[in-house]
Amino acid sequence: MEAQINDIRLYYRTQGQGVPVLLVHGFPLSGEVWQEQIEALHGTVQVIVPDLRGFGRSDVPDGPSRMETFADDLSRLLDTLHINQVVIGGVSMGGYITFAFLRHHHERVRGLIFANTRATPDTDEARTNRETTAQLVEAQGAGVIADTMLPKLLAPSEARSSDRHTFLRSLIERNSPRGIAAALRGMALRPDSSDLLPHIQVPTLIIAGDQDVMTPPAEMQHLHAAIPGSRLVELAGAGHVSNIDQPEGFNAALRDFLSRISA
Ligand code: MLT
Repeated sequence: MEAQINDIRLYYRTQGQGVPVLLVHGFPLSGEVWQEQIEALHGTVQVIVPDLRGFGRSDVPDGPSRMETFADDLSRLLDTLHINQVVIGGVSMGGYITFAFLRHHHERVRGLIFANTRATPDTDEARTNRETTAQLVEAQGAGVIADTMLPKLLAPSEARSSDRHTFLRSLIERNSPRGIAAALRGMALRPDSSDLLPHIQVPTLIIAGDQDVMTPPAEMQHLHAAIPGSRLVELAGAGHVSNIDQPEGFNAALRDFLSRISA
């Protein structure tokens, strides 16, 4: 389905009934990464899965896609769906956007899921690399970022030549270079969200992958220590996109967490 949100057409899927759960994909993917979670959860909750601006079937706007702009799109999408409050969560960049949603739309947050992400901003070096990569993608296309990122997205045993590897490559290569570059520049501009952590008062699930080289488990342990009452699940054999790498473990963690929220 599509909604006219702010200045763009945003594509989304929603399935099931019950507590609304908004799942936010990471970079440079699309809402299709959540298929196994939709199938696992739609019998008990309402799963809402957007393609963020610049990704998947949504429009590709100009300029940096700031985390707060993504978050504002999601809040407008909830208005369109007549939903007040959600459990919101995401993997990696989806987590950065979840922090922005918490900062700017906290009254809409019923619960939080942070997977393979961090609260801290980019270092100066990382910002410089983002701009270099953005220019490379604009010049050479999405395949460049697929080549550099794919070996780091899945656990080593999966990263060689599995179906999941092929699936992720196809998602990345279907995205527009302009949308990818806009998100890279937006991630470079994201603020430090560490100040939010001790004030979080809603149920919070944190998911780590023990083989995640991009956001190692120590990052998730740090979030867990800083967020009062949060729960941490570390998935064995999971790399960075842990919902794709270890869907059974990921879904079990979500189901358990959500059953307590629904109750
Ligand atoms: C992601 O998976 O969304 C990216 O690794 C985020 C990032 O590049 O910081």
